[in-house]
Amino acid sequence: MAGQIPPQFIDDLLTRVDITDVIDARVPLKKAGKNLQACCPFHNEKTPSFTVSPEKQFYHCFGCGAHGTAIGFLMEYDQMSFPEAIHELAESVGMTVPTTKSLAPNPAKQNLYDLLDKVSQYYVHQLQTHPKRDEFVAYLKRRGLSANTVDHFNIGMAPDGWDNVLKTFGSNQQAIKQLTEAGLLSSNDKGRTYDRFRNRVMFPICDRRGRVIGFGGRVLDDSTPKYLNSPETPVFHKGHELYGLYRARKANRQLSRIVIVEGYMDVIALAEKGITNAVATLGTATTPEHLKQLQRSAPEVVFCFDGDRAGREAAWRAAENALPMLGGNHQLKFMFLPDGEDPDTLVKQQGAEAFNGLVEQAKSYSDFFFESLESRVDIDSMDGRARLVEVARPYLRHIPTGVYREMFEQRLAERAQTSTSVLHKHLEKAPTPQIEVKKAAPTSSGISPIRMAITILLQHPELHASVGEFDKISALSRAGVSVLVELLETLHQQPHLNTAALLERARDTEHGEHLKKLAIQTLDLSPEALQHELVGVVEQLQEEALELRHEFLMAKGLSQLTEQERQEIQQLASRMKR
Ligand code: UTP
Ligand code: MN
Repeated sequence: MAGQIPPQFIDDLLTRVDITDVIDARVPLKKAGKNLQACCPFHNEKTPSFTVSPEKQFYHCFGCGAHGTAIGFLMEYDQMSFPEAIHELAESVGMTVPTTKSLAPNPAKQNLYDLLDKVSQYYVHQLQTHPKRDEFVAYLKRRGLSANTVDHFNIGMAPDGWDNVLKTFGSNQQAIKQLTEAGLLSSNDKGRTYDRFRNRVMFPICDRRGRVIGFGGRVLDDSTPKYLNSPETPVFHKGHELYGLYRARKANRQLSRIVIVEGYMDVIALAEKGITNAVATLGTATTPEHLKQLQRSAPEVVFCFDGDRAGREAAWRAAENALPMLGGNHQLKFMFLPDGEDPDTLVKQQGAEAFNGLVEQAKSYSDFFFESLESRVDIDSMDGRARLVEVARPYLRHIPTGVYREMFEQRLAERAQTSTSVLHKHLEKAPTPQIEVKKAAPTSSGISPIRMAITILLQHPELHASVGEFDKISALSRAGVSVLVELLETLHQQPHLNTAALLERARDTEHGEHLKKLAIQTLDLSPEALQHELVGVVEQLQEEALELRHEFLMAKGLSQLTEQERQEIQQLASRMKR
């Protein structure tokens, strides 16, 4: 079957590799009886509860529950994708992975990483040798950066001129194409191609494994745009990346806290003053993807915002995005700087102590949440308190059920001066009737259709192109639907993604583990049959979803329908097959 690593090979590999060597090279292990031990690299602890069993070829942490094989360890610790981990291990014991191209590490991507790395070195070299370097060096000095810090963050300079990078790295058409793909070139309407970054201080952006994936470039003066960033490329996705995360993890073997700030210069200025646990988003709001990464890196995440209105609004957006991530062992906090300051100006004027003091005083998530909502209502009046429940309601639904949510509800009840039972009655008022879903027939292979569709997409992402409409199916409350829709949407936006890339994206999600298993399932069907199966499943789901929506609207009764809903009924009827 094309595009998969035979499970047999993985079995063989795992008998040849010794997990204790793999882990010991990264986390030094000590003998403890027939096992080996260390302080767990996946959570913060002082006494070792991370155990490696040579016999079972398995690791397990009794503290945080992390566990897995040598493959899993590389994926977790070195942030490798599944195929990458397999290749790394195979290479270490001299085995060759019998894969076809769709699962092997993508050579085109590897070329981009190599190119970006070389260009980053070039920018650094320019800062050391260029005739106009003085102006840049003086700027960095003025910003309070020591040579050490400049070096540590690999800060460089893009000299003025239209074609420095183009000339140095674009010796032929193929090379120019790669430069374009790496986001290093721009072109105008007339088709002329030139360096994207000119006359700017260059900050390389690394992924969590330290590979350069893009750049931010800052002007030296007040011209705009102040920062120019790499565009989205096959290796650079703004909403996923955090500036400084790789270095923060490297500087602190076990991070107990990460502070998330707004700018490149904030991360760097904090590091200059010895605060090495700051990261920044790349000019975007904090996405759930960011949060997942941060929560895996440290038990406490502190959002740091300006104290002005824009800062408060950004904080609220971050708080909204964090709702599904609340509870468990993670702490989320918010800190606000005095108006007009950012972390950079603050540490420069008042020192690291002052900044750390503010971090220590950060507000808990729930304090920030309730303060923000209460500022929108008059908590002293009964009407205001009722309104508080109303405005809180849509948010509470997104908090995972559990102790944390219960405590949240309790607090809401207290603030609204009502009881949790009254509150519950109110919260449970379902805004839309529960959608009942018919069971789809199993596919020819016996596994559930949705699972089958996901497996096919993972192993043959290119088949997504044959899939028809799927815009309604996320309304179906059936296991796996959201995963399927996410895969389809991802592939719709990025049709070139291969299996490895899809797994890599899912690595940190709740489905990551499951998807890895599906990726190595054997699919004993011809490519045509797989395509037929996939298209059929999605079509059936879409049809069901249209029908359900139609039924739902019809059940409301004609007099209750808004004009918009009437139109929707007509549209639905015309889209439905029967
Ligand atoms: P800031 O303007 O707060 O950045 O924007 P900063 O790091 O404090 O800048 P200076 O050097 O001290 O003046 C925060 C972040 O927003 C993005 C960048 O990621 C920046 O670090 N940004 C800002 C842009 O992408 N483009 C811009 O023009 C401005
Ligand atoms: Mn700044």
